[in-house]
This record gives sequence, C-alpha cells and structure tokens, in this order.
Amino acid sequence: MEGKTTSETKVVMSELVLPGMTNLLGNLLGGQLMHWMDVAGALCCMRHSNMQVVTVAVDALEFKHPARQGEMVRIEAKLMWIGQTSMKVKVIATAENLATGAVIITNVAKFTFVALDQNGQKTRVSALIPETDEEKQDYEKEEKEYLARRNNR
Ligand SMILES: CC(C)(COP(=O)(O)OP(=O)(O)OC[C@H]1O[C@@H](n2cnc3c(N)ncnc32)[C@H](O)[C@@H]1OP(=O)(O)O)[C@@H](O)C(=O)NCCC(=O)NCCS
Repeated sequence: MEGKTTSETKVVMSELVLPGMTNLLGNLLGGQLMHWMDVAGALCCMRHSNMQVVTVAVDALEFKHPARQGEMVRIEAKLMWIGQTSMKVKVIATAENLATGAVIITNVAKFTFVALDQNGQKTRVSALIPETDEEKQDYEKEEKEYLARRNNR
C-alpha cells in the first residue's frame, strides 16, 4: 500500500466566533469548538484514507483558554499515527484577537478515527510517512500507546 506524508493531508480551518455560538459571558461554547475539531480531524483522515471515517475516541480534551465572540478560531489537524484501520490526529485550536493580533492556544486534543468502506465495514488504511524528527517521535510514542492499549484489552 502506498503511503502519504503528514504534510500532504494537514487541514487548517478558520472560523469566526459569532453571537449565536457563545455562552452568556461571550465565550465560545465548548460543544461548538469540539464540533469544529472533530470535523477538521475527520477531513484530515478522509484525505489520508480516501474513505468515509467515524470518530472512535477523543483523548483528554482540555479547555485552556476561552475563545471570545468576534475572535477568529483556527483549527489545525495533522495525522500522528496510523494503525490497521485507525488513524490518530492531533488537533490544535487557537483564538486570534483580530483587533490586536494576539493569538492563544485554546485547546489541544487527539482524536482517533476509523476508516469505513462503502458497506460501512472498517477497512485498512495506507501507511503514514513521518518526515520531521518531531513527527517521527510522535509516531513512535503513539505506536507504543496503541500496543499498550491492545495488550490491556
Ligand atoms: C468504529 C467502529 C466501526 C469500530 O468497530 P469495532 O469492531 O469496535 O472495531 P475494533 O475494536 O477492531 O477497533 C477498530 C480500530 O479502532 C481502534 N479503537 C477502538 N477503540 C478505540 C479507542 N477507544 N481508542 C483508540 N482506538 C480505538 C482499534 O484499536 C482498531 O484500530 P486498528 O484497526 O488500527 O488496530 C465501531 O466501534 C463504531 O461504529 N463505533 C461508532 C462510531 C461513531 O458512531 N462515531 C460517532 C459519529 S462519527
């Protein structure tokens, strides 16, 4: 099976925090942000696998800082690791204050997706080719976590 590099399938989405998306304090609703992160992660995995994908797990999703009404949220999704049918993606969300240009990281999370064929059955995905040292380290770390999780089943 041919492989793809992480940079080939990276996805970046930009969204404006509108009034209907916030709580009473003017902060972006957590569920809205999770939805964007899920979509960005799924797009990344669809680009890699050329298949439909479903979310199977989300690792610790922390809300470090709020994104405020009127700010631009940028969501970056990048593949970290590939199993047989599963794909692990790192999703980073930042909020940019458009008046000052200040940018903060609001969330970082890892999503796992599974590729499905046309009959809705899980199916194998092509290899991932990590290029940079950081990508290679991430890949090895995720491989160890996967093996540990499988052995604990
Ligand atoms: C995803 C789904 C098809 C997997 O089917 P399954 O028979 O349970 O498959 P498995 O247990 O063999 O898991 C399939 C892969 O997912 C991985 N996986 C399963 N649970 C996981 C978890 N909690 N964390 C990380 N990976 C997980 C497995 O390691 C396996 O990876 P591999 O093929 O690379 O080795 C099935 O669980 C499903 O349909 N879930 C609902 C998905 C959904 O509706 N999502 C929300 C809407 S998108």
